[in-house]
Amino acid sequence: MENLETFKQAAAIAAVRHLESGMVVGLGTGSTAKYAVLEVGRKLRAGELRDVRAVPTSEATAKLATEQGIPLLELDPYGVDVAIDGADEIDPGLNLIKGLGGALLREKIVEQTARLFVAVADHTKLVERLGRGFLPLEIVPFGYKVTLKRLEPLGEPQFWLKDDQPFVTDGGNYAVKMRVAPIQNPAELHARLKGVVGVVETGLFPGMAKKAYVAGENGVRAMSL
Ligand code: A5P
Repeated sequence: MENLETFKQAAAIAAVRHLESGMVVGLGTGSTAKYAVLEVGRKLRAGELRDVRAVPTSEATAKLATEQGIPLLELDPYGVDVAIDGADEIDPGLNLIKGLGGALLREKIVEQTARLFVAVADHTKLVERLGRGFLPLEIVPFGYKVTLKRLEPLGEPQFWLKDDQPFVTDGGNYAVKMRVAPIQNPAELHARLKGVVGVVETGLFPGMAKKAYVAGENGVRAMSL
């Protein structure tokens, strides 16, 4: 019986090895990124790392990092040295779908600045082609019904409800999940979605991750571009 939690933890721990004392780390969001936050906290307490500061990609991650004693930093033009985050889907070219945890906008703002962005996942996230599951988007609340209608030629957008209420992201936007056909060209689909007025950001992260650690029964597989 496989234990996905063990795999998530192993992948996250492998990624934290890229972090060195004095660096700024972008801390991702979700059940896999959580293990990276715990590992950074552990290394700081153990003295294996010093003077590391973190930019969190969500309120939830900020809270966890603070509990772990990791000093937080506001994102500035320096950006982050290393960003570590989970993914909902990873293709062989390290293109990602992210955001099913509802934090894609802040994640993308932080991760685009990373000198090294490392994706971490258990093996169930690997796909041959992106689009197996939902593609999340953040859209502006004003006029959202129009935005949803305008998205229809590109897939099947669903307004995302949480506890019967619109799911409002940390960025203050409404969240949408889209069914799309298997994605031939992630960068092109991203551009087309962004061309719809009212779309703030998409969960497509093409060409951003330079490394991925994907863990399964046979250990942690390192993937690099
Ligand atoms: C959060 O919004 C997401 O981008 C997560 O990184 C992604 O959903 C993966 O989450 P899990 O590690 O919990 O599967």
